[in-house]
Amino acid sequence: MAKKKAASLSQVIMTEMVLPNDTNTLNNLMGGKLMHWMDIVAAIAAQKHSNRIVVTASADSISFKHPIALGNVVTLKAFVTRAFNSSMEVYIEVFAEDIPANKKITTHRAFFTFVAVDQNGRPIEVPEVEPATPEEVELYEGALRRRQLRLILSKKMDPNDASELKAIFDLNEPK
Ligand SMILES: CC(C)(COP(=O)(O)OP(=O)(O)OC[C@H]1O[C@@H](n2cnc3c(N)ncnc32)[C@H](O)[C@@H]1OP(=O)(O)O)[C@@H](O)C(=O)NCCC(=O)NCCS
Repeated sequence: MAKKKAASLSQVIMTEMVLPNDTNTLNNLMGGKLMHWMDIVAAIAAQKHSNRIVVTASADSISFKHPIALGNVVTLKAFVTRAFNSSMEVYIEVFAEDIPANKKITTHRAFFTFVAVDQNGRPIEVPEVEPATPEEVELYEGALRRRQLRLILSKKMDPNDASELKAIFDLNEPK
């Protein structure tokens, strides 16, 4: 694998304003529009880490807890938590800000996985991630379990091979 790169080098911050065309009939941001922005910010982070063309391989469950209102400013922050062979897990945080009211809340968190590909669309190796801050280390350490879970769910991994997940649930331990 190519040499390590700091997680912070992949960080991307994207700012958007919710305009009338982005909203549903309740004047809140449409979920699909937010997912589009999440896909873009995460793809840029994965490109910065790998310096390659990247494709979205998966998006983990996204729940919409707080509506984001028309006129709010939406900030999306993303960085690569961990890289494997050709794939990279990207962590995305979304904040909504009502600037006139001076209110800012975290509205979403999600993990997307991107795969670096060559000109023919074949997966290609990427550098490892070097985490530094406590948040980066925590996300780096959890990334292996999350990878195993998403590969099992997409039928790309046999649950019996998911050693990190098995260790959490002590699946082989007698009760
Ligand atoms: C993503 C893609 C390149 C994977 O290709 P593949 O032939 O399945 O390749 P492999 O099985 O060798 O997997 C390559 C990597 O993708 C990862 N991967 C494949 N499916 C995945 C999934 N559902 N979730 C997370 N990672 C996945 C593998 O774990 C592997 O990672 P690694 O190299 O770090 O170990 C291929 O499925 C693809 O091109 N998909 C379409 C991507 C696209 O168009 N995205 C836009 C959405 S419309």
